[in-house]
This record gives sequence, C-alpha cells and structure tokens, in this order.
Amino acid sequence: MIHFIGAGPGDPELITVKGARIIAGADVVIYAGSLVNRAVLDGCKPGAEVYDSSGMSLEEVLEVMFRAWREGKKVARVHTGDPSIYGAIQEQMDALAEKGIPFEVVPGVSSVFAAAAAIPRELTLPGVTQTVIMTRLEGRTPVPGAENLRDLARHGCTMCIFLSVNQIDRVTAELLQGGYGPGTGVVVVEKASWPDQRVIRGTLENIGKLVKEAGITRQALILVGDVFVRDYRRSRLYDPDFSHGFRGRAE
Ligand SMILES: C[S@@+](CC[C@H](N)C(=O)[O-])C[C@H]1O[C@@H](n2cnc3c(N)ncnc32)[C@H](O)[C@@H]1O
Repeated sequence: MIHFIGAGPGDPELITVKGARIIAGADVVIYAGSLVNRAVLDGCKPGAEVYDSSGMSLEEVLEVMFRAWREGKKVARVHTGDPSIYGAIQEQMDALAEKGIPFEVVPGVSSVFAAAAAIPRELTLPGVTQTVIMTRLEGRTPVPGAENLRDLARHGCTMCIFLSVNQIDRVTAELLQGGYGPGTGVVVVEKASWPDQRVIRGTLENIGKLVKEAGITRQALILVGDVFVRDYRRSRLYDPDFSHGFRGRAE
C-alpha cells in the first residue's frame, strides 16, 4: 500500500491523526519539500528513507515507489495541504494503478481553509453568498478557456485563487472586468498557519499595491468577495425558530 498524505498547510499540528500515524510507521517517505513543513516528518521512525521530491522528476518519484513496493516497504507520499487540490497526484495514482500497486489517499487541511481561519472569516455567509470557487490563473499549467477569471467573476461569489499572487494585477483587472466592484474585499494570506504567516487586507482597487509593497510573490492565496466586507443575515442553523432533526422537531 502506498499512502498519499495531505500534510496540511504548514502548522505541523494540522496534519490528520491518520496521516501522522502512517508517516510514523513508514519505511520510505517522499515529501514535497517546496511547500511541506519538514516538521511533519519529525515523527518518522529512525532509519526511514526520506526523499524531497522538489528536485525529482515524476519518473524518479515513481521509481522510488516501485522499488519500495518490490521490497515490501511501507511508503508515505506527503503532499502539501490536501492532495486533491493542485497536488499533481493523478499521474502518480494512475502509474501505480497500471502496475496493480494498491494506494490510498489520506485527506489534509487545504491552505484555503487555513487562510480562512487566519482572517478569520466564514466563506459562505447567508444573504451574501453560498458558493466558493477555487481556481487559479494559468501559469505553466493551462486553464480551460471557459474558466477564465473574468467569466468566473460574473457569479459574484467568494473566490479563492491559488498559484497567482505573482500576477496580482492581472487577477484584479480580470475580476473588475467580470463585474466585482472596486470596493470588493480582498484578503491575501501568505504562509497560512506558518509562524511567519502574513495577512494583507484590502479591496480590488488597492490590493495590488499592498501585495507588492509587502513583497509577496509566492505561497499565498488571494481570497475575494463580499463576505470580507458585507453584512450578512444570521444563519438559520442556530435560529431558535428553525427546527431540525438534531433538536428533535420535525423539519
Ligand atoms: C501546488 S498548490 C498546492 C495546494 C495544496 N494542495 C492545498 O490544498 O493547499 C500551491 C499553492 O497553494 C497555495 N498555498 C499552499 N500553502 C499555502 C499556505 N500555507 N498559505 C497560503 N497559500 C498556500 C498557494 O497559492 C500556492 O501557490
């Protein structure tokens, strides 16, 4: 069994109990060193082989996995945040499946949720929006045309934009063209949950300047939407007049 593990956003206490347990028992650990906090590997057993995949090709990573599998070793493949979001795990899972090697994915706390916690703000506020879009600008990875920020912006919901802070001016320009007002709230969170986390608050009008002044160019999320500035209606979930199953009254 090869275990893909979400390491969480940075704070080593934000890995799941299951993920930490598997890492502690692994003979081989391959971790994405560019973003994963090395401290999540503190619990590795003595003598475990540890590889930083940031300098390895897909083929080299797979070769380590295949060899460990042949030798009957337990492998932990550790990715940042949750592996299913921009984790590049699909090609690894497909290669394992092709060889009949079993694997599982242990989810993790995505940086998007660490960023919301850092602000702190709920991303879905009644009367404001009930939808969150997670997306990115294209970089070396293309983004399908129908998913350009200008078109996604037309929904006016909360948007969480990964991998794009180095193009902040393009992000704000496209969102304004798509229909968000210049006063729409924007929060940029760099290194969410790390000791040196930074939170920059602004609007679509001024966030580009603030981000550049702060020198933020990577490992940051751009969160946009009226949830960061607008009043909202109280959630009906805890309203005394709103009965639901857990309170023993019929819905
Ligand atoms: C390759 S993606 C990986 C995302 C990861 N799978 C997740 O669930 O958070 C890397 C991008 O995630 C965001 N990111 C990762 N860790 C972060 C953190 N601790 N704080 C803010 N953004 C982070 C940044 O936008 C960064 O460019």
